[in-house]
Amino acid sequence: MAITRDIFHDPVLVAEIVAFLVRKPGIYVDGTLGGGGHSLAMLRSLCDAGFLEGSLLIGIDQDEAALRQAREKLGEYDARAVLVKGNFLDLGEIITRVCSQRVVEPKVTGILLDLGVSSYQLDTAERGFSYMSEGPLDMRMDSNASVSAGDIVNAYDEQQLARLFYRYGEEPRSRSIARAIVAYRQHNGSVSSTRELADIIRGNAHGGERVIKTLSRVFQALRIEVNAELDVLSRALYDGINRLDEHGRMAVISYHSLEDRIAKRVFAEKARSDWGPKGVGLREPLAWGSVTPVTRKPLIASQQEIASNSRARSAKLRVIEKNSQGGCSGRP
Ligand SMILES: C[S@@+](CC[C@H](N)C(=O)[O-])C[C@H]1O[C@@H](n2cnc3c(N)ncnc32)[C@H](O)[C@@H]1O
Repeated sequence: MAITRDIFHDPVLVAEIVAFLVRKPGIYVDGTLGGGGHSLAMLRSLCDAGFLEGSLLIGIDQDEAALRQAREKLGEYDARAVLVKGNFLDLGEIITRVCSQRVVEPKVTGILLDLGVSSYQLDTAERGFSYMSEGPLDMRMDSNASVSAGDIVNAYDEQQLARLFYRYGEEPRSRSIARAIVAYRQHNGSVSSTRELADIIRGNAHGGERVIKTLSRVFQALRIEVNAELDVLSRALYDGINRLDEHGRMAVISYHSLEDRIAKRVFAEKARSDWGPKGVGLREPLAWGSVTPVTRKPLIASQQEIASNSRARSAKLRVIEKNSQGGCSGRP
């Protein structure tokens, strides 16, 4: 299918990402390459600053369509960009492999994770991510993955479905929707399309605007389960921090509270110094925190950006910086 560059994905908080991450030549990792919008901006900024020579961008995505688009978009920089099909769950391993092929030290200057789905994935009906168009109940970002949304909707029992919609969608009507799905299966054999699932949800949601919220929450819950989105996130954050060079930075853009909570928790944990048992009154901690927050509070998009890109409305950006060994950034 022909995809024009503009409609693939309009990246959010691009200027902020470039300003926070691109500060010197080095290894940059875009763990959620998508259409390559953020990567292109980082490469251009490296080029403008005279840092391109001596830099390498590693772009990772589990979606083949995203990689095809990014390859085209980043073509002029292909000597400085290595694009890899993979899951950011394996971030550390991918960095080690690419760096050893290029014979460079695997110490990373900047890492970006721009979480969730791309506009392309949402807008392509056959991918089954959206309740707004008719498609198979798929939702796999990696088309080779074994479990689709249809497998889950048709195999989970009522309790498992209710738990899923509540946990990953924070949906208050999780139980009645789960009950309706199981009843539908009993009468019709299975739920096979996004339209069928959306109709079941509509029949069990409150009216008005709340229907849209319920549809979004149930579809979000299924997408998170299919792609194990939250399970892989904390591991990628720990691995990424381990791979950062001194003063290297990691930026995470999240689009819902479940993701943001994980980033907040992992960053806070890694920033905390170990002062030993309470009451000991050490002059120095037993171990300094390994990162320092660069954004004290999550950064959000400007009204101007939100007006031109609705995806930016829910975006939250958190950035941390790796401390030098045995001390904190900016601390004497
Ligand atoms: C919000 S889009 C990123 C858009 C990108 N920043 C751009 O400028 O076009 C998220 C992308 O991350 C990919 N993705 C999500 N989770 C992933 C994971 N665990 N491993 C690899 N890629 C993932 C999706 O396939 C999607 O293409």
